[in-house]
Amino acid sequence: MCGIVGILGRAPVAEQLVDSLKRLEYRGYDSAGVATLENGALARRRAEGKLKNLEARLEAKPLGGHTGIGHTRWATHGRPTENNAHPHATERVAVVHNGIIENFRELREGLEAKGTVFSTETDTEVVVHLVDNLLKGGVAPVEAVRAVLSQLRGAFALGLIFAGEDDLMIGARNGPPLAIGHGDGEMYLGSDAIALGPFTDTISYLEDGDWVVLNRKGATIFDKDNAIVHREAIKHLTATALVDKANYRHFMAKEIHEQPEVVGHTLARYVDMATERVTMPVKLPFDFKNIQRVSITACGTASYAGFVAKYWLERLARLPVELDVASEFRYREAPLRKGDLAVFISQSGETADTLAALRYAKAQGAYTLSVVNVPTSTIARESEVVLPTLAGPEIGVASTKAFTCQLMVLASLAVAAGKARGELSDADEAKLVHSLVEIPRLMSEALTTEPHIEKLAREISKSRDVLYLGRGTSYPLALEGALKLKEISYIHAEGYAAGELKHGPIALIDEHMPVVVIAPYDKVFEKTVSNMQEVAARGGKIILMTDARGAAEATIQSLVTIVMPDMGATFAPMVYAVPVQLLAYHTAVVMGTDVDQPRNLAKSVTVE
Ligand code: F6R
Repeated sequence: MCGIVGILGRAPVAEQLVDSLKRLEYRGYDSAGVATLENGALARRRAEGKLKNLEARLEAKPLGGHTGIGHTRWATHGRPTENNAHPHATERVAVVHNGIIENFRELREGLEAKGTVFSTETDTEVVVHLVDNLLKGGVAPVEAVRAVLSQLRGAFALGLIFAGEDDLMIGARNGPPLAIGHGDGEMYLGSDAIALGPFTDTISYLEDGDWVVLNRKGATIFDKDNAIVHREAIKHLTATALVDKANYRHFMAKEIHEQPEVVGHTLARYVDMATERVTMPVKLPFDFKNIQRVSITACGTASYAGFVAKYWLERLARLPVELDVASEFRYREAPLRKGDLAVFISQSGETADTLAALRYAKAQGAYTLSVVNVPTSTIARESEVVLPTLAGPEIGVASTKAFTCQLMVLASLAVAAGKARGELSDADEAKLVHSLVEIPRLMSEALTTEPHIEKLAREISKSRDVLYLGRGTSYPLALEGALKLKEISYIHAEGYAAGELKHGPIALIDEHMPVVVIAPYDKVFEKTVSNMQEVAARGGKIILMTDARGAAEATIQSLVTIVMPDMGATFAPMVYAVPVQLLAYHTAVVMGTDVDQPRNLAKSVTVE
């Protein structure tokens, strides 16, 4: 992961670099640094921890120079110390890097054998020395970088500046994204358009294998065969202001509360409320009638949205769905056939494993359709069909509103598929659309459970482990609940299909174990009640999330019952996601963790 930025400016750039890094913190936040050219000489400031530490460092010891690069890190190779923080540099060259140089060991050994002394534990440092050695031997910077790029294997985005070269910056992309910003007598490099938002709205995206030589007048882009290529400059609508928390304590709280609105926006893109029909915003290049099989691939929370969609597509469209986490799919050589539909779900649109899975599916001849939140992302650009989620920028590392917007898109897609395959009549479609239209209102109602959940969170925060159970579409939600709690409160949690409890996890149940049961009143409710009975009989503390009917029929002593609005069961996961997210959020607040930037995580995972 990591975020990188570079500026060829007309005024001192250190402050602008830090400004831009703030927008890139979602990519990593364990250390940060900047390097500039001060009177032609490379100078650096770096700091362990959050950006505010780097800001303090710069305040104590300011950095001049109109040419500079910056980096915010998510450690892969080497601990998150100041010494391992980027930029890495010699007196001739400074480098920022996002990704992994996979053959760094071999390159490092080769360099060490010739006497190079390494001072960090990072893979990046090999790039620095390889370039430096060529510069030392009199090779010009552009030629040196060209030669070094041909030796690197792995996934990387790089930014380089050179001592004595005030009007030169080089960038390279092989995997992780890299954007060029066009200014007025200034040029920029950044991991994404958001990073460059304060400086310019005119962006060109490098394609895989591209590298670029920048000066203040413009950019010369080369492809992987070193041929000069043109990459279109597009106007980007990213707001220049940093998204703020409004009156919320955390972005995550704001994003949970935004859900009725953004899910509503997404709904409006996929549903014609007047005619009660589902309308895809783009023409699909296939007919669902001819699709034999769907494969859904994603990571983390997005994969749980895909898991819910499996239930929907199978039930509403009678389409067999295979679901994979992308890190497994990309290597398991799944036999996709020409004409199969491969669906990819990603908030960032940059997740390395999901992108690799997409490329694999494309190579197999499958139709590729992605559900993404960032329309300019690599996954969006490389997919045949893009179904956007309209969640807006999601800043909290734990995904909330992107998840429910993904569900809204996938629910619409399942209805469209059911209709096209003749599994749903006009009347069925109208009924389902009617249920979808109700979702934003039901989500608002679900938010009113917050005071109860806040109280409950104090109990949960005393636990070492928490179990989440659900059946049907509540099962993926149980997995999501457990993930959300783990990642932001650091309390161990597991999600299970309620019927699986007796096949092992029931051994964990005792009076210290809270069990969150997600169970709207539906056709499997009674089965879930039996599972709750099994928990209660062993002294487990049950937290039941259900509707009024479920609460009345459960007849089991639960610690707390969160009563949810009445609704049809089909699309309940979108609404039940709300208390599940709130429980994780408030537990994390009680635990005093860094809710928006939990330890060891990053928002965009561009490494394997
Ligand atoms: C969890 C979370 C992650 C992401 C996963 C995929 O709250 O946010 O599990 O869902 O890293 O990221 P995207 O959706 O950007 O591909």
